[in-house]
Amino acid sequence: MISRSALPLAGGAGTIIATRRPLRVTTIVSPCSARSSTAEKFRDASEAVISRTALRLSEQCQTALVSTAERAHAEALDAADPLASIRDRFELGDPDTIYLDGNSLGPLSSASRRRLHALIDEWGVRLVAGWDDWLDLPRQVGDRLGAVALGAAPGQVLVCDSTTVNLYKLASAALDALSPRHASTILTDAGNFPTDRYVLDGLAAARGLRLRMIDADPVHGPGVDDIAASSDVALVVLSHVGYRTGAVADLAATTAACAAASVPVLWDLSHSVGALPIELDRDGVQLAVGCTYKYLNAGPGAPALLYVRRDLQDRLRSPIQGWFGQHDQFAMHRPYDPQCDIRRFLAGTPPILQLAGVASAVELIAEAGIERIRAKNLELTQLAVTLYEAWLEPLGFRLGSPVDPKRRGSHVSLRHPAAESITGALVEQRVIVDFRGPDCIRLGLAAPYTRFVDVHDALARLRALA
Ligand SMILES: Cc1ncc(COP(=O)(O)O)c(C=O)c1O
Repeated sequence: MISRSALPLAGGAGTIIATRRPLRVTTIVSPCSARSSTAEKFRDASEAVISRTALRLSEQCQTALVSTAERAHAEALDAADPLASIRDRFELGDPDTIYLDGNSLGPLSSASRRRLHALIDEWGVRLVAGWDDWLDLPRQVGDRLGAVALGAAPGQVLVCDSTTVNLYKLASAALDALSPRHASTILTDAGNFPTDRYVLDGLAAARGLRLRMIDADPVHGPGVDDIAASSDVALVVLSHVGYRTGAVADLAATTAACAAASVPVLWDLSHSVGALPIELDRDGVQLAVGCTYKYLNAGPGAPALLYVRRDLQDRLRSPIQGWFGQHDQFAMHRPYDPQCDIRRFLAGTPPILQLAGVASAVELIAEAGIERIRAKNLELTQLAVTLYEAWLEPLGFRLGSPVDPKRRGSHVSLRHPAAESITGALVEQRVIVDFRGPDCIRLGLAAPYTRFVDVHDALARLRALA
C-alpha cells in the first residue's frame, strides 16, 4: 500500500518517495551524498518525515539497497545527521546501554560538567562576594532561555524554584487577577501530569472553586473544542505535550480561543521545551512553566522556567511573598513591596550551582538549533513508529501516541497490558525507558544524543522480549 508523493530535494539531489507502510519498499541510501543534502532535507523536514521512506540520491555516488527495518537504514540516517557529533558532548554511561529516558532526566554534557566545576571553584575563592554576579542569574538565564527556546523577548522569563512551585505561583496569581468575575471552575485535562492536577485541586479547595478535569481523547489529548465547550471557567491549565502520550496540543489556537473568552490559560512546557520550537510571544501566551532537566539536560533538580507576559506582570502578585521578589531587597526594614518586573515572581535564594547547569545546557540547545532538533526528533519518532508497526503491533502492542508525526512531541508511547514487566525486562536488556501506569512504556528520543541505531536496536530488543 504505497502512496507515492515525490518531494523534491533542493539542489536536484533526488526525490523522497512516500509510503505509510515503509517496510514494503526499499530505501536507496548513499552515504556520500546524504550529508551534502542535509540542509535542504531539514528545511522540509516535517513533511518529509510524514511520508519519508526512500531517498534517491546523487547518481554519481554508489547506492545501496536497504529496507527501512534493517539496521543499515538507521546507520545511513545517522551518517546523514547534522547533529550526530553533538552526541559526543554527552556522558551517557555504559556504551552498550541505550538511554531513552531523556524525557525524564536529560544527560550530563561535558560543558555542564566544566561549568559546574568552575562555579564550585568560584565559590571556593569568592565566598559571599560571588553574590554580586550570582544574584541576577535567574533573570539572565531566563532571558537566554527565552531567546533560544521559548520565543520570548527579554524580561519575561525566570529560572527558579520547581515547576510545581512555579505552577502554584502563576495559577494563584492568575486566579486573583485575570479570571472572569464569578467564574468558579478551574479547567484541566484528566491526563495532565499529576503535580499539575494536585496543585490545582489544592487551589480549588482553598478558594471554594471546582476543579473540572476534561476526559479528552486518550491519544491526542484536549483540543480547542474541549476548552471552548466549557463555561464558567476561571483558569485553564494544560500541558503543551502530554507526559504520557507525547501528543502536542494546539497551543496557538487554544490560547487564542481562551483569549477570545477572556479566560487566562497557563501552559506547562515540561515536555516541549528544548524539543520543539515554542513561540510564546507570537502566540500570545500569558503564562507558562516547565522543567529544565528533561530535554534541556540541565541536571537533576535543576530550577524550572516561569514565563509571564510583560503586559500582565504588574497586575499579578506571587502568593509567596519572598525577599527575592521584594523591591530593594536589602533594605530589610521595609514592608513587602514587590519588584516592578518579572523578578516579583522570585521567592527565596536561587540554586546557583544548578542555574549554571541550566545556562550551559541552553547554550548547547542554541548550538544544535531548535529547528534542527525538531526536524531530527520527527525522524526519530517516525522510525520508532514504523518499527512498532512492523514488529510490535502484531505482538499485541498499541501505539499510545498520535500517528501523525506533527502531533507528536519527542517521545513515543507504546501500550501493552504487561507494560510494567516488559519495561523491567527491557531495562535489564540495557534499554533505559520508563513505565507510566497502567500500561504505558515511554521511549524518549532526544535529537542531541539519540541515534537512529538506538531506536532500531531498542525496538529490536523489545521485539525479542515480547
Ligand atoms: C508535565 C510535568 N509537569 C510538572 C512536572 C513536575 O516538575 P517538578 O517535580 O520539577 O516540580 C513534571 C515532572 O516530570 C512533568 O512531567
